[in-house]
Amino acid sequence: MPPKKQTALELRKRKGAGPKIAAVTAYDATMARLLDAGGVDILLVGDSLGMVVQGLSNTLPVTVDEICYHGRAVARGTLRAHVVGDLPFMSYQKSPEQAVHNAGRLLKEGACEAVKLEGGQAVAEQVRSIVACGIPVMGHIGLTPQSIHAMGGFRVQGKSAPEAARLLADAQAIEQAGAYSIVLEGIPAELAQKITAALSIPTIGIGAGPACDGQVLVCYDFLGMYRELQPKFVKRFAALGEQIVEATRAYVREVESGQFPAEEHTFRAPLGVLGELSGTEPVVEREKLPAGYGPKADEDA
Ligand code: KIV
Repeated sequence: MPPKKQTALELRKRKGAGPKIAAVTAYDATMARLLDAGGVDILLVGDSLGMVVQGLSNTLPVTVDEICYHGRAVARGTLRAHVVGDLPFMSYQKSPEQAVHNAGRLLKEGACEAVKLEGGQAVAEQVRSIVACGIPVMGHIGLTPQSIHAMGGFRVQGKSAPEAARLLADAQAIEQAGAYSIVLEGIPAELAQKITAALSIPTIGIGAGPACDGQVLVCYDFLGMYRELQPKFVKRFAALGEQIVEATRAYVREVESGQFPAEEHTFRAPLGVLGELSGTEPVVEREKLPAGYGPKADEDA
């Protein structure tokens, strides 16, 4: 029997009741299949794909078409997790109409089940309009990577009293607009705890301490594959980056030396076929042929 699908509704009910929500990003079907099998609750098709998949230095150039492309791939690999698509920079900020149009695209063309957007009071109308169309919305406040230039870089937010008060008001505005959850990124743990206590929707932290109702990490970060940067909030649960480099070195060595491919990786023509072509019978050690290859018993005589 397929596992029970996680939904926005079910995840919202986990507020206070637990267990905490485990979210990670995913960008393709193979990774989604593995992460889903690992029991993650949410797969976020994040615009972080601009950095970890496309090699950009920030997320700004990512397009709705790209989120849709990766969203379809992730959805194909997912049985259980709730699939959320990121609304990219300038795909919702302009107006509630623009936000509804692009949120609809992420569901219709991107196979996502909810959308995430960055910002607080300034985008509350957008959240309200998207939710009114029956599309679940996840908010995202604090260190919002789409505002990298306004923030002067990837910097922890909410460190002063007025900033902290603004972030609390932002979180409340997003909740009141109908969001079912909210990402708190790059803020002090004490502020995240206050916001988490003030809201009735789950908070999903990334660099926001342990008090949040859930956590999210970029898949290449927690698997140790993105080695260009290691922010303080990232814990590497594996060192797949090193393993991939080592495995690649082994592959290169075996190709260069001729050790790979071995007999078990090799297809053989039935005896006689190539002899007719070239006039010479190829020499095959029959006992090494994999099942199904080589001559049939009656051809053998
Ligand atoms: O794009 C992304 O991956 C994100 C998460 C890091 C929250 O927004």
